Amino acid sequence: MTLEELTRVDVNLHEKAYPIFIGADFLAHIGSLIKPYTRSKKVFLITDSLVELLYLPLVQESLESAGFEVYVLTVEQGEGSKTLKEAEKLLDKMLKIGCDRQSAIISLGGGVVGDLAGFCASVLLRGVDFIQIPTTLLAQTDSSVGGKTGVNMAAGKNLVGSFYQPKAVFIDVHTLKTLDGQQILAGFAEVVKYGLALNADFWHWLEKMGDYVVSLDNDACRYAVEQCCRIKAAIVAEDEFEKTGLRSLLNFGHTIGHAIEACAGMRGSILHGEAVAIGSVLATWVSAGMQLCSSETAAKVTAQFEKWGLPTQFDSTLKNTDLIAFMKKDKKTTRNQLNFILLEDIGSGVLVHDIPVEAVEKVFNEKGRKKHGFSFY
Ligand SMILES: NC(=O)c1ccc[n+]([C@@H]2O[C@H](COP(=O)([O-])OP(=O)(O)OC[C@H]3O[C@@H](n4cnc5c(N)ncnc54)[C@H](O)[C@@H]3O)[C@@H](O)[C@H]2O)c1
Repeated sequence: MTLEELTRVDVNLHEKAYPIFIGADFLAHIGSLIKPYTRSKKVFLITDSLVELLYLPLVQESLESAGFEVYVLTVEQGEGSKTLKEAEKLLDKMLKIGCDRQSAIISLGGGVVGDLAGFCASVLLRGVDFIQIPTTLLAQTDSSVGGKTGVNMAAGKNLVGSFYQPKAVFIDVHTLKTLDGQQILAGFAEVVKYGLALNADFWHWLEKMGDYVVSLDNDACRYAVEQCCRIKAAIVAEDEFEKTGLRSLLNFGHTIGHAIEACAGMRGSILHGEAVAIGSVLATWVSAGMQLCSSETAAKVTAQFEKWGLPTQFDSTLKNTDLIAFMKKDKKTTRNQLNFILLEDIGSGVLVHDIPVEAVEKVFNEKGRKKHGFSFY
């Protein structure tokens, strides 16, 4: 297996430019594929307790066969590991084992491991080489691209972190086969976001082929992952540090989604991607309510989400006041107004300022809240 056999997407960031390689079933060759992207002989492989069982032996063996000295550091699976405390433990271990500026950190796992390992790479000795091997649909299409790293704090998610670009990203869509159905759909919500808010052609492709992505057809996944990476890479190349507003378009569905995620967290659990799916549909209805797009578009989007099996409504017990209060804390909020991404049309997201709270509450009441029952779906 050679790099030429993989699909390549470049993130054009001048001296920080790097490639994303996409393929299926190549992890047994990862050692030789990674070699051109780090001068390091010593690598710290950071993974989680579940991914360790599934893919570590293959990856470790390949890295060692290619001549790397591999040290494996495993964190408990799940969001609970994305903390400063965990980062400190990892940094202490790497310093104790012995590292220098030539050392590299490789992340193997989902967005949690990627964000945590990237954060460690950005601060260890003021920055060592970082390579990502993302293994969830969310990580392959979103979190591994663009250089945002971070940990969660008591005050909220991802509030401490850095922009730190990897040297390369290696995406093997074959690893998606071991994800459970709920994780696949949650990742798929982020895939859909790219079409809905940023690229109408991709949305229309998803209308036809989205079911193949959800059922993990290798070719469909490879194409979808490639498109998401291309769309995100183009945006990151223009607005690496989220200064111009362009990068914020990637947050379509997230302001409402984060509020649902946070408020629902008290009553049960909802995955980030599930909340983003609901947030995307409701943001589309807010857009229709403000005459930015038509109600037909919003109805069509809702029906398509339902066809894919994505959630479109939240638990009836969530309160508007709690949701709105949380939305006002969003990083995009200024002067206590609601500012978030709405749709002018399919594929055309736009950052709108001073969105009236009443317009959002109306959508929550009429479209957002499940009429009966306690569960999410
Ligand atoms: N950096 C960014 O730009 C960015 C963007 C979006 C999200 N994020 C972050 O990403 C995180 C969510 O990522 P996630 O959804 O990948 O969560 P995750 O890393 O917790 O992975 C979800 C679960 O899937 C398991 N898993 C991973 N790969 C698997 C595989 N191939 N087969 C079976 N199970 C597997 C993990 O062990 C975990 O239990 C959040 O912390 C979020 O803040 C970051």
